[in-house]
Amino acid sequence: MPFSNRKILLGVTGGIAVYKALELTRLLKKQGADVRVVMTKSATAFVQPLSFQALSGHSVHFELLDTEAENAMGHIELARWADVFVMAPATANTLAKIAHGLADDLVSTLYLAATCPIYVAPAMNHAMWKHPATQANLKILQTHGVNLIAPESGEQACGEIGVGRMAEPETICRGVLQTPAHEDDFGYTGRCNLPLQKSGVCKTPLRIIITAGATREPLDPVRYLTNRSSGKMGYALAVAAQKSGANVTLISGVTHTAPPLNCHFIQVETAEQMHTAVFENLENCDIFIGAAAVADYRPIVCGDEKIKKNAEQITLTLQKNPDILANVAALDSPPFTVGFAAETHELERYAREKLTRKKLNMIAANWVGRDEGGFERDENALEVFWRDGQQSLAMTEKSELARQLITLISERYYAKN
Ligand code: PMT
Repeated sequence: MPFSNRKILLGVTGGIAVYKALELTRLLKKQGADVRVVMTKSATAFVQPLSFQALSGHSVHFELLDTEAENAMGHIELARWADVFVMAPATANTLAKIAHGLADDLVSTLYLAATCPIYVAPAMNHAMWKHPATQANLKILQTHGVNLIAPESGEQACGEIGVGRMAEPETICRGVLQTPAHEDDFGYTGRCNLPLQKSGVCKTPLRIIITAGATREPLDPVRYLTNRSSGKMGYALAVAAQKSGANVTLISGVTHTAPPLNCHFIQVETAEQMHTAVFENLENCDIFIGAAAVADYRPIVCGDEKIKKNAEQITLTLQKNPDILANVAALDSPPFTVGFAAETHELERYAREKLTRKKLNMIAANWVGRDEGGFERDENALEVFWRDGQQSLAMTEKSELARQLITLISERYYAKN
């Protein structure tokens, strides 16, 4: 069984999604894990600890200062015992507390005491999720190396619609399953040797921002201009960068592709929103990869009313969008900047022209509008160029191609730094 002998500490904090943590406990147990549950006081208002006890087969811990519980297994012992610590649901309040090192209950104390991989599966109202305070706390947690299992979009318990609903138990279980049982399960000799962790300093991941997918440029309330990007290439890069030890922020247009687990995922719609999201997240960014197919132009006017189809012809006036990639590379102290080039002809000439004009460190060029590779497909091939070199990456699955590109990027990144 995939989780045989894995010791999983489940921190349950107070929100309506507590009921889903019961199913999560059941799924983790079914995979062979030994699960111990810790609840905050407010979580016990939603579901009785007895339910978790019945499913996990162990007493539930909820008091920090309970001599009996401390005698059985104290909080430091619990933290040492765990192979993985999962907080699901993690409320806005708990995220804020752990981001700032407050330890006033058992769950937040265990956060400070645990040295194992930590996952948080937030659950809250969509306005609370979007609030700059929550987003700032998530960024802090990312610098602690916490893995985020992003909340989903949909109807919330309060009746409103938006992002904030806790990920489904199956999704959380799959995310936790990705944690390597041994450090060299990543395929490297040890975590310190992962290519996207700062050399010499153990477990200091590089910060990578990746853009992916197509932007949508609204014409009226129901129509928009877009392109064929599915997000597959950018999402595969996010997974490959994570496996190489990086802290990944994925900024994506609307896609039908499920976002990778554990990365900081930001969904946007338009090129201007993508530009804003990139610049809001650039602090301490080591590597920027622009895999998104950003619309070069947007309709100059987006009316409140649907455009009527009375006229035989209509004219759209378009306004140039900001060039996200070029603006990142033009910063005083830019991250290592990698662009993509989607070309229908003269691939090398146009790619090298973009490399120079946009002042990039590297560019990965792919053919588009052909039978294979490029937009929407599961496979792709790339010609990668930098100032004094180039490398061809042959047609293969996007997941494998992304792994090869991330390796190449890390080599060039260290050659430059
Ligand atoms: O998403 P998939 O279906 O998997 O397809 C993958 C892909 C074909 C979309 C991907 O491999 C790719 O080529 N992405 C870049 C597509 C593109 O917009 O290329 P471009 O040559 O028009 O742009 C050059 C670079 O500038 C790109 O890095 C782009 O992200 C960036 N750009 C462009 C315009 C703009 N306003 N801002 C930008 O940042």
